Amino acid sequence: MIGRLLVQLAKAIPAFVAYKVSKTFGRRTPALHPSLGGPDSTGAADLVLPQIGLDSRLTRITSWLAEANPFESAELERLPLFKLWLGIPEGHKWSQYFYAYTAVFESQRLRPLRILEIGVFYGSSLSLWRGYFAHPDTVIVGIDIEPVCAQSENPNANVHVRIGSQVDAVFLDRVVKEFGPFDIIIDDGSHQSSHMITSFNHLFEAGLKDDGIYLVEDLHSNFWSTYRDSELSFIDVCKQLVDLIHVHYIQPGVEGIGSFWHGREEQLKSIDVTFLTTRIREIRFFDSIVAITKKAPGYVPSLMRKP
Ligand SMILES: C[S@@+](CC[C@H](N)C(=O)[O-])C[C@H]1O[C@@H](n2cnc3c(N)ncnc32)[C@H](O)[C@@H]1O
Repeated sequence: MIGRLLVQLAKAIPAFVAYKVSKTFGRRTPALHPSLGGPDSTGAADLVLPQIGLDSRLTRITSWLAEANPFESAELERLPLFKLWLGIPEGHKWSQYFYAYTAVFESQRLRPLRILEIGVFYGSSLSLWRGYFAHPDTVIVGIDIEPVCAQSENPNANVHVRIGSQVDAVFLDRVVKEFGPFDIIIDDGSHQSSHMITSFNHLFEAGLKDDGIYLVEDLHSNFWSTYRDSELSFIDVCKQLVDLIHVHYIQPGVEGIGSFWHGREEQLKSIDVTFLTTRIREIRFFDSIVAITKKAPGYVPSLMRKP
């Protein structure tokens, strides 16, 4: 116990000193943690910590408190999705994903759904979704670039696999035409940042139903140079989406609440906004997962006043 504390202290002191030195001399913070600042990184800690406007008490350097065994976590064991996953012979999943999936999907699970998952591998998540989304009419489609993944197809259980790339628009359109549009799209494919962006650009409009959910996972790969093949990461793009859903408040001439009173919707409709401004209901950020819910067209924000 004391030995572990000493090891942690030995790791923390150089980082803390470097942080203090850089604050004192006004330089950008040097790497705060080797895993973020090392040769296989995009310098995420360098970029993030000095730029955020939070109180330093909230951004102080700390460490994870425990090394709990997730397989023995009472909280995880309560989640039906985790129980199901324990019954599947192979596969790997980050423990935090079970909370995120449950938060995003639980209200959907008994409806008849059309689900597309990018990335099949040995088919373990297809089995997981088959067990979790329990409506017998639910259709689950996996796509993968590796032909061998076709072995995970099981049409009798409404599980289908198609072989092609997540960045091939013609292939994606074919899959959407055959099985879509989808209620849920999960990107667990190549994890290359450019691929995540390309697939979202294509499928959010062309493949996702109104009120559908677009979930991208393993977003930690955005911070690892092996997978980071675009200037912006998918997480960067999602941060921009946060601004895009507020575009109508930023337009010249509409500052203040005057333009948004109920009854002035016609006037508001004349304001230029982006397609995504009108079609994103919600963006949920988790550790390594972002889930974006699509909104049906026709909605205009309106400030309601009771008589
Ligand atoms: C992490 S694995 C998927 C794991 C699976 N979802 C699970 O949880 O059991 C990623 C898969 O993406 C596939 N892949 C890689 N590049 C791809 C691409 N461009 N298009 C579609 N799939 C791709 C790989 O062949 C691999 O099977």
